[in-house]
Amino acid sequence: MAKKKKMNKQKAKKKVVKKTAPKKRAVFVAKKMPVAEKKPVIAPAVGEQKPTGAEEGDAPQKHSGLQALRGMKDILPKEDQYWYALLDHAIRLAQFYEFGWIQTPLLEDARLYTRSIGKGTDIVEKEMYVFEDRDMERVALRPEGTAGVVRAYIQHGMLNLPQPVKMWYFASMFRHERPQKGRYREHHQIGFEVFGDPSPSADAQLIAIAYTLLSDLGISVEVRINSIGMPDERARYIMELTGYYRAKRSYLCEDCKKRLNRNPLRLLDCKEEGCKPLRDEAPQIVDWLSEPSKKFFMELLEDLDELQVPYSLDPFLVRGLDYYSHTVFEFYTKEQDAETAQSALGGGGRYDLLVEQLGGRPTPAVGFGVGMERIVTELKKRPDEFAQKPPTVFLAHLGQGARRKALRLLQDLHAEGMRVGFNLAKTSLKAQLDIADKQKVLYTLILGQKEMMDGTIIVRDMESGAQEIVDVTKIVPFLKKKL
Ligand code: HAM
Repeated sequence: MAKKKKMNKQKAKKKVVKKTAPKKRAVFVAKKMPVAEKKPVIAPAVGEQKPTGAEEGDAPQKHSGLQALRGMKDILPKEDQYWYALLDHAIRLAQFYEFGWIQTPLLEDARLYTRSIGKGTDIVEKEMYVFEDRDMERVALRPEGTAGVVRAYIQHGMLNLPQPVKMWYFASMFRHERPQKGRYREHHQIGFEVFGDPSPSADAQLIAIAYTLLSDLGISVEVRINSIGMPDERARYIMELTGYYRAKRSYLCEDCKKRLNRNPLRLLDCKEEGCKPLRDEAPQIVDWLSEPSKKFFMELLEDLDELQVPYSLDPFLVRGLDYYSHTVFEFYTKEQDAETAQSALGGGGRYDLLVEQLGGRPTPAVGFGVGMERIVTELKKRPDEFAQKPPTVFLAHLGQGARRKALRLLQDLHAEGMRVGFNLAKTSLKAQLDIADKQKVLYTLILGQKEMMDGTIIVRDMESGAQEIVDVTKIVPFLKKKL
């Protein structure tokens, strides 16, 4: 009861999450690519271009003419520490909660997505990269991860494994959206999916996993949650909603007028100033849920209370994919700037009908996906926390023979679990010592011709400048003692 009161109390003040719909239809057939689509994001001055999809603040670069496609972005080594941290946390959570790793193909039969995500959705209608391959098969680049995992679950007879079957992935997704901050045409998601668990505790645990992933990375997360019930409940609600908006049609923006016929639930997502007040007065789906659906939702909320995952109820959260039933949720940072305020870090929900819809036995399922680029953007605000520790030892070589020996020694040191800096391209000792200095290593090992002959190596203490000669076969225990 207390929860229900809470839900009602929140009804009036909920914010709606806007999914900006690209303006033009963009189903690709390779031969008919419109010329305008080939223009780069930033009109370049000759010879001085920013790479497409570059971050604000990146220096313009000279280029050879070819660039990444509009809305696509190179992920460069300079940001690897953030991606490593994110993946590292995801892998630990996956292992602890017993999720197996799955990777499905990037290309699938296009029907997989039309049948699961839904024909009337923005993703299928406007954003999917669809084309005929050389065998004239109609294929699509993966726009989201769930459908492929469901296909694999059915195809590999995972219905016959002990349930629940739990899988996770990280993969790139392609959506031909209008590029803007935090919205790319290729993005990456980490996704977790659970098959064969009908209990609300599965939903609660998944929400808690995503919450932990984000908060362990230092992001203060806001969880927004709603229930959209089962299709019959939703159908009755949509009738009510459509009736409500029809009566106010003349006040709606042009996009919403179209949504009224095609996908009325998406009216709740509109951020146009004229439409917002209408939404505040709109009927709310929670009032159209059956008793079992309400009970399911209440139990989930109680599980979240037990898990101490804070959430807010968002009666207008409907999500942009058709396969959901019952629970839907999204994750936002509490510290969003105005530009990214509408960008969810992740989202998910229950999809109890999808396995059957794609040809499997009826199987309850639930999952979430988080956007890796958007999370990395958050992490980049705290670079010091993710800076990689430099090595404590540097290995310098002098002469070709020493370089060969250094190759081998590096391998041995690596096998002993030591991190050692080196630069095989530099030939002068001074240049190598400069690098060692910059890396602030404690010791530099110097291997020259004489040491090669003697089977020794020089160990230079970088702070005092003192040097010792050590038997090269004893260098590992020597260093281990020093470090
Ligand atoms: P989604 O909400 O479409 O859900 O995407 C999940 C997350 O991917 C978003 O919250 C966002 O962080 C990120 N994302 C989506 N589109 C873009 C883009 N164009 N650029 C950058 N990031 C983006 C799904 O895809 C569902 N498959 C999630 C799910 C898994 N539901 C159940 N299981």
